[in-house]
Amino acid sequence: MMKERLQKLQDEALAALQQAADLNALQDVRVQYLGKKGALTDVMKGMRDLSPEERPAIGQLVNTLKDQIEAVFAERQTLLNQAAIDARLASEKIDVTLPGRGTFAGSKHPVTLVTEEIVDIFSRLGFVVEEGPEIEQDFYNFEALNIPKDHPARDMQDTFYISDDLVLRTHTSPVQIRTMLKNKPPVRVIAPGTVYRRDSDITHSPMFHQIEGFLVDEKVTFGDLKGILTHFLNQFFGKGQDVRFRPSFFPFTEPSAEVDIACVICGGKGCRVCSQTGWLEILGCGMIDPAVFESVEYDAGSCSGFAFGMGLERIAMLKYGVNDLRLFFENDLRFLRQF
Ligand code: FA5
Ligand code: MG
Repeated sequence: MMKERLQKLQDEALAALQQAADLNALQDVRVQYLGKKGALTDVMKGMRDLSPEERPAIGQLVNTLKDQIEAVFAERQTLLNQAAIDARLASEKIDVTLPGRGTFAGSKHPVTLVTEEIVDIFSRLGFVVEEGPEIEQDFYNFEALNIPKDHPARDMQDTFYISDDLVLRTHTSPVQIRTMLKNKPPVRVIAPGTVYRRDSDITHSPMFHQIEGFLVDEKVTFGDLKGILTHFLNQFFGKGQDVRFRPSFFPFTEPSAEVDIACVICGGKGCRVCSQTGWLEILGCGMIDPAVFESVEYDAGSCSGFAFGMGLERIAMLKYGVNDLRLFFENDLRFLRQF
């Protein structure tokens, strides 16, 4: 009877130890058989009812079983411990060969990059940098540039007026007047700056940037203008970029032209950026009008000169293939970090 009970206990205990899935379950099995109220302890308490002859043999069987349970327990414990460690190691694994996350150091705004590059190209041709105020007097922004009050040419630029006499400058051309009033010819100036107009769409923004360039000396011709601008465009966009000079009108230049560059977004096929024309206007230019020389007291008989003004955002769009000018002012880091 006792032998059979022990045999059954052995089978059950060993099976339970093998099936315990983790350390807690294993510990429970041990308590279930060897604990104070365990099944084997129970058997040992029953020993006192055995006859003295039976006792030693059964006692030995109980001890063997106890040792066996302890041994299997220890073996399973080592195994499950190792499994627990392995699982933890796998879940906490750090791949030290991965690249670090790093910090973004910030970068120059694309309009700044383009401004610096253009100024650099003209500096090498002997042009010096001049600047003027963004809040400008009517005289410099319009009057002295041969755009009288009430003249229809004022409609070419939709103006923010501060008062009758003060405007947010609509272009960098007033720097021409300020410079020529201060200096006698020869002058050779490049003037970057912020300008304002009541405009807003994918190629126009109410605040944008221009670079003005002008040169006054003896016997300056339209050929000089074309040569310098072509040199600049080749330097800036690389040779092979399609460029065209198109006759145009400005009150402060005569003759005048606008320069278009083949749309880089569509390759000249026509898209929304170039209004389906295949071309994007990037600058206006021409020979300085004698009326302008008169307002700065230059002698139009002994000197001549050219001037040009270009839109920096347009140029940045073309250079970097950006299809909406407003992206430059939204300060979206995903956009800005690409430059
Ligand atoms: C002028 O502003 C003349 N002052 C340029 C000039 C200077 C002509 C010297 C002759 C001699 P215009 O309005 O076309 O011209 O503007 C010049 C350039 O500025 C345009 O070719 C275009 O590239 C850019 N531009 C004009 N309006 C906007 C705008 N709202 N947003 C962004 N760029 C603009
Ligand atoms: Mg224009």
